[in-house]
Amino acid sequence: MVTLMLAGRRVILGVAGGIAAYKAAEIAGTLVKRGAEVQVIMTRAAREFITPLTLQTITRHEVASDMFTPRSGGVAHIEVARWGEAMLIAPATANLIGKMAAGIGDDLLSTIVLAFDRSVLLCPAMNTTMYRNPVVQRNIRTLSALGYHFVEPCSGRLACGEEGPGRLAPTDEIVAKLESLLCGVPRDLAGVRILITAGPTREPLDPVRYISNRSSGKMGYAVARAAVDRGAYVVLVSGPSALSPPPGVKVVPVETAEEMHLAVNQHFEWCDVAVKAAAVADYRPQTQAGGKLKKRAANLTLILEPNRDILAELGRRKGRRIIVGFAAETEQLEARAVLKAQKKGADLIVANDVTKLGAGFDVDTNIAVFAYPDGRTVSLPLMEKLALAHRILDEVRELRKAGADNG
Ligand code: PMT
Repeated sequence: MVTLMLAGRRVILGVAGGIAAYKAAEIAGTLVKRGAEVQVIMTRAAREFITPLTLQTITRHEVASDMFTPRSGGVAHIEVARWGEAMLIAPATANLIGKMAAGIGDDLLSTIVLAFDRSVLLCPAMNTTMYRNPVVQRNIRTLSALGYHFVEPCSGRLACGEEGPGRLAPTDEIVAKLESLLCGVPRDLAGVRILITAGPTREPLDPVRYISNRSSGKMGYAVARAAVDRGAYVVLVSGPSALSPPPGVKVVPVETAEEMHLAVNQHFEWCDVAVKAAAVADYRPQTQAGGKLKKRAANLTLILEPNRDILAELGRRKGRRIIVGFAAETEQLEARAVLKAQKKGADLIVANDVTKLGAGFDVDTNIAVFAYPDGRTVSLPLMEKLALAHRILDEVRELRKAGADNG
């Protein structure tokens, strides 16, 4: 089974002009199989070795090469650089490595490299003598010292007939290195105080029965784990769940929506960010029988009264906090999620269509749409709940940054 390690991760694949460019097809295919979204940027020379159509078909993304092709969204190199989470250049030619070491941006690929401030992985491939050339070696050392990552070429018989180092490293090795760069967890939320709710609530009818829902807590617990791994302090207000909480998290167990309301209120002043993944019951029985309700011949009518909307309350008194809500929907996902963000004062709503296979309640994966109060929506592919948790926290980090920039 292929693991979806890279599910939803955005990779820019740069392809420079060497005979190994044809191997970019295999690399792109492997990245896509592992769940990545891949945007290919080719140099003009690379197009002599492999057609853009091949890479476009594999990645289902238009391949770009030209700085000056007008794009709808804005400035091409800046737009692509902002989109990517990591950049992989395979093959990296002596020419491209030289330009990078000198800070030259004279085509789309080299300009994106200059505008890109996250991990860049270079996979050199060239003739042995070129690879051993002291200038090329110096350029590689310069780039390494600047924090660029490399997968060294392997030795063997090269297309030019020479033997020695210069063959592009095997695809598996390249992809494994990229995964470790992308999935090594950053400590970018160090010291941030995050309040998370998870699981269902139970609304008792009598001492033995309750109204509840199918939430397992997996989504909220994944957010808690990702947040702790990224250095945050986490309070997890959890409805009944069979899961073990991640180490390092303070857990406040609750049962009813009213108890969740109380626990959330107690920790709200403390927090910088609140993420509300819990499936809170909207109603509770108006009365609770003191003893077990007895079976009768007649119908039993239950009167339900509404619970308080905890998220909406937080939205009203959020101050500078970032508030992330969830929305479990069965239809009109985007429209309802945007409306929820607006009505409940959330900065972000993570909406899931709980009728979809692999999404919603009690599964390890989810399919989400990010919805914002300004009406924007971003659809994400199927991914592990932990991967989605990281995507949510990436967004939290950006929202905090935007808040700080706006004073
Ligand atoms: O726990 P899992 O098995 O992993 O399942 C995950 C999930 C499906 C529960 C999760 O992904 C999810 O969608 N959680 C929100 C479920 C929900 O209650 O959705 P809603 O559309 O009814 O509520 C919208 C938001 O308001 C939610 O953030 C909810 O926590 C909040 N709310 C709702 C009612 C209420 N009285 N108070 C609230 O704060």
